Amino acid sequence: MIEIKDLSYVYPNADEPVLKQISATFPRENVFAVLGQSGSGKTTLLNCIARFLHPTSGQIEIDGKDIASMDELEFRHTLGVVFQKLNLFPHLSVLRNLTLAPQKVFDTPLEDARKQAREMLDRLGIGDLADRYPAQISGGQAQRVAIARGLMLQPRYMLLDEPTSALDAQTTQDFANWLTELSNVTSFIIVTHDLPFAQMVATHGVYLTDGNIQATGEVTDILNQVQQPTS
Ligand SMILES: Nc1ncnc2c1ncn2[C@@H]1O[C@H](COP(=O)(O)OP(=O)(O)OP(=O)(O)O)[C@@H](O)[C@H]1O
Ligand SMILES: [Mg+2]
Repeated sequence: MIEIKDLSYVYPNADEPVLKQISATFPRENVFAVLGQSGSGKTTLLNCIARFLHPTSGQIEIDGKDIASMDELEFRHTLGVVFQKLNLFPHLSVLRNLTLAPQKVFDTPLEDARKQAREMLDRLGIGDLADRYPAQISGGQAQRVAIARGLMLQPRYMLLDEPTSALDAQTTQDFANWLTELSNVTSFIIVTHDLPFAQMVATHGVYLTDGNIQATGEVTDILNQVQQPTS
């Protein structure tokens, strides 16, 4: 599980904290939802968990270990992340985007990495895109490639920021299906303001409002509590 303890974050040059001493436990659910309105601090929280931002105060533990004390290799085994703005390498083919990290991080031989990458792409239904470049695929396909790339490192947890933002209704449904399937191995934490999608894939979650945890528990209860306008 991921434990967030008295976490605050203030952006440099800002007066107000964006995360205000929040404490929360994300149990090791198959899929756990981080919900909240735009600007409430979801991506900032995710960036703190992913160690891209260093908390102003407080700490984060994953399965009992402070993430600040993990070395890079251990951390990469523990947690992966796919951002709102996808960061595929534009000058590399889809296949190469997938093989690079295991080769660099885990010293996986290229042939093995290629085999794993092809299996992963097939599993996500995009095996035919292996030789294309990021500019030659759609937004939704790029999202799947980015997730496939993250899964190549077989992290125990994977954070996904707004994973449905580039998807239409049918693709969102397909995505929900394979996310559920993949979640038997990797636990996903999805940050989303797509509430119907959150209900499709997650049973538990938290709801952020203005840098505070407003509600936590079952997604259906949370949504009743916060009385979100339908979206
Ligand atoms: N680099 C930054 N410097 C200063 N303030 C920032 C920075 N990034 C985000 N903020 C501010 O922090 C607050 C929280 O932003 P954050 O991106 O975490 O929200 P969010 O919940 O992910 O929103 P969304 O649903 O729109 O993605 C916002 O008020 C935002 O303007
Ligand atoms: Mg965000």
